Amino acid sequence: MRKINSEISGFYKLTIEERQKILNDLFDLNQDERKLLHNFGYFNPNQMDTLIENVVGSYQLPMGIACNFKINNKDYLIPMVIEEPSVVAAASNAAKFARKHGGFHSEKVNSVMISQIQITQLKDINATKEKLLEHKEKILKIANEQDPTLNEIGGGAFDYELREINTGKGKMLILHLLVNVLDAMGANVVNTMAEAVSPYIEELSNGKIYLRILSNLATERIAKSKATFDKDLLGGEEVVEGILNAYEFALEDPFRATTHNKGIMNGIIALTLATGNDARAIEAGAHAYASLSGKYKPLTKFDVDKEGNLIGEIEIPLALGIIGGMTKIHPMARLALKILNVKSAEELSQVAAALGLAQNVGALRALASEGIQRGHMTLHSRNIAKLAGVPEDLIEEVANKLVKDNRIRVDYAKEILNDLLKKK
Ligand code: MEV
Repeated sequence: MRKINSEISGFYKLTIEERQKILNDLFDLNQDERKLLHNFGYFNPNQMDTLIENVVGSYQLPMGIACNFKINNKDYLIPMVIEEPSVVAAASNAAKFARKHGGFHSEKVNSVMISQIQITQLKDINATKEKLLEHKEKILKIANEQDPTLNEIGGGAFDYELREINTGKGKMLILHLLVNVLDAMGANVVNTMAEAVSPYIEELSNGKIYLRILSNLATERIAKSKATFDKDLLGGEEVVEGILNAYEFALEDPFRATTHNKGIMNGIIALTLATGNDARAIEAGAHAYASLSGKYKPLTKFDVDKEGNLIGEIEIPLALGIIGGMTKIHPMARLALKILNVKSAEELSQVAAALGLAQNVGALRALASEGIQRGHMTLHSRNIAKLAGVPEDLIEEVANKLVKDNRIRVDYAKEILNDLLKKK
């Protein structure tokens, strides 16, 4: 193993080419590897260099389209960025099962974000609370001065709530500034507002303010979607029964609930990435919301209707935007939003919630019937065949045999290929 020194002074000040040269020298990159680093795809390297620090290259993932979605009576083709096989297919299938019964019904989503201000070292919490409520108008005015345009078009800070918490450093008063961020994800604007109002709040309260930052637990931005999934298309009564059992399992067991919710996030994060939104924010919010009752729970609910069809519902915080951040800078995110054809952040969240529900049903259907490995393995087997050097026209045949014999390995793919070539 090569030993390297990771302390590279001023790495951030170098040009992309200079950083690539350092990697090249350190790791003795071959021609193909150097070419990979130089390939920025549809990005302008200088543009990438301003997005994050220490840029050396660009990283690609597949983008697929989930079909069959009807949400609030509108049809959608949903772009999904994900590396896992079967996810796009599972979502498309589940959407077809729901389509037979009118598709998904997603509720209204308010684009309200919470920005937290942590007020500490208070002598008299009740007096501070009163003072802060008395001066609400002025505090909201300072907040809204940070983004007059947002305010003019109907958004902005409109209220705040005060929460008292007991901590190892004594009582703290947490101010939750509520901001309607309209079509943005909103992190930037609410953080700016929280920082701007803090000096005045500190003066009023005679306390000490530490943190001023949004909460990713966006409980004021909840998306809900519901659909009826056709019993026969799902595979019959037995499969529906299997899904209901899976749901009860997840309700009682956090180990299962985590995987259940991971299946939901397969869909939601794929759309989050496709549209240039912040996947970490969405993940963090979803899992915190799942445990808000004190016990980690599934984010979906299931029941059956009189005919035995499966009724599914989802409820999840979704801080997704269609303006600002990467949504406009990333050319593929822009294209994804065009394909998705959503007119507002609210509509994007309505689609995302429906997709999460469909993804969950797709996974549970597979788990309650044939298991998920068959679907996974079909795609995986093609990759294995390619890795084994199987020519394009024989890939299908070799991949099928790998799955049939349940031996999806490169050495076996080579063996099948040799047999085929001998016969030809
Ligand atoms: C795999 O990415 C997702 C599943 O594990 C979800 C689930 O178990 O419900 C299949």
